[in-house]
Amino acid sequence: MVQIKQSIYLEFLSKFGVASAHPGGMDLTKEILLAENINRTSSILDVGCGTGQTTAYLADYYGANVTGMDINPIMVEKARNRIMLEKLSAEIIQGSIEQAPFENEEFDFIFSESVLAFVNATNALNEIYRLLKNGGRFIANELTLNQPFPDKEMEEIKQFYGFDSFYTEEDWVLLLEKNGFKNIQIYKPQYSLLQNNAVPEFHYSENIDPQLFMVMMEHFNIMYKYEGIMDYRIFTCTKE
Ligand SMILES: C[S@@+](CC[C@H](N)C(=O)[O-])C[C@H]1O[C@@H](n2cnc3c(N)ncnc32)[C@H](O)[C@@H]1O
Repeated sequence: MVQIKQSIYLEFLSKFGVASAHPGGMDLTKEILLAENINRTSSILDVGCGTGQTTAYLADYYGANVTGMDINPIMVEKARNRIMLEKLSAEIIQGSIEQAPFENEEFDFIFSESVLAFVNATNALNEIYRLLKNGGRFIANELTLNQPFPDKEMEEIKQFYGFDSFYTEEDWVLLLEKNGFKNIQIYKPQYSLLQNNAVPEFHYSENIDPQLFMVMMEHFNIMYKYEGIMDYRIFTCTKE
């Protein structure tokens, strides 16, 4: 039985079916993917796939062998629906990246877009390392902290989003190294968290709790308040 740690923000994302719920949206996803050597024979895991927009793109544009996994059953249903409606071939499963239901060394590439902050990052990175083939690539779009917050504000933000951790760029690199990853590279996209926010797709559930309508506004309030402090990076690395 998969245990879901839910926050009001994650509930909002799933009930509103917010697609590409990561900094930079699909434009940045496409740019990052182009730098990788993906082809039809690549086996790829999209961790925390949400409504499955990246999973679908990987299946459609690259014809790759893609699996999307998310812990949230509403996200899983919306991602499956997308794959079906777009008549694509990709598997969508419910599972947690802290204890993933796959054999060792199944994947050439693992992507995670705005997921690791929500989970126990050490457990997740251990699993990602286990699931990658030797020479496989891990690519993550992750939130970073540019300077320490006062404890009280940090707690408020962690609670609102449901973050397990909120690390600096250096913390992420140390954690990746500790979990055995090599060739770690960091890319700082040209746009800040608040720039380049194309209006996302929404895939609404029925019967949305009225309090969830305030969540998007609160999210942008936090983004404005902590502009320059909350940030994000693209981390790429290899299992050797
Ligand atoms: C900010 S959303 C990003 C979704 C998607 N990657 C995207 O860019 O649209 C974070 C996602 O991580 C999922 N998630 C949270 N904890 C997870 C876990 N332990 N294993 C797998 N997915 C998880 C959430 O359900 C949510 O769909």
